[in-house]
Amino acid sequence: MKGLGTEVLLPKEEIMRRVTELAASITKDYTGKDLLVVGVLKGSFIFMADLIRVIQIPSTVDFVRIASYGRKKVSAGRIVIDKDVDTPVTGRDLLIVEDILDTGLTLSGLVDMMKQRNPASLKVCVLLDKPSRRLVPFTADYVGFSIPDEFVVGYGLDCDEKYRYFPEVRILRESEA
Ligand code: PRP
Repeated sequence: MKGLGTEVLLPKEEIMRRVTELAASITKDYTGKDLLVVGVLKGSFIFMADLIRVIQIPSTVDFVRIASYGRKKVSAGRIVIDKDVDTPVTGRDLLIVEDILDTGLTLSGLVDMMKQRNPASLKVCVLLDKPSRRLVPFTADYVGFSIPDEFVVGYGLDCDEKYRYFPEVRILRESEA
């Protein structure tokens, strides 16, 4: 009988080591700046919680949620915001935090939208990048891990809202078990 099996891709310790390295770069780049960290719900919540606690400068935090069209967040290259930030971003040093960069449609749409609000600066930090899946050109400023085109869950990432709680990133596959 076919079922779903998982296999560890990134253990918790490796993720935390990399999160600490990313935080060190962010700390260096943002010292003296007015850092506003905006997470894209839901997938980013665990990564963002770990990241802001190891960044060595003060930050304020907020979240956006993008509307879904069935299982996708993007229709004809345009995003619609379900929940906007409460904080005005004009003049702020904005760092958008995402769990995964896949086709690039979500982040390119969100970045375009946020740029229209005139932040002082805007950068993007992603935990995972699947460059082979890109449909629109997009490069994140901070990337935790570049990964192959596998369906990944855990550390905030889901499959039908399941598995977000796994401490590590796992590959989800059909198994014969
Ligand atoms: C994932 C992820 C990004 C988006 C990336 O969200 O969190 O927002 O897909 O894909 P893209 O580069 O192809 O646009 P998902 O739709 O799984 O929602 P969730 O964050 O609520 O889990």
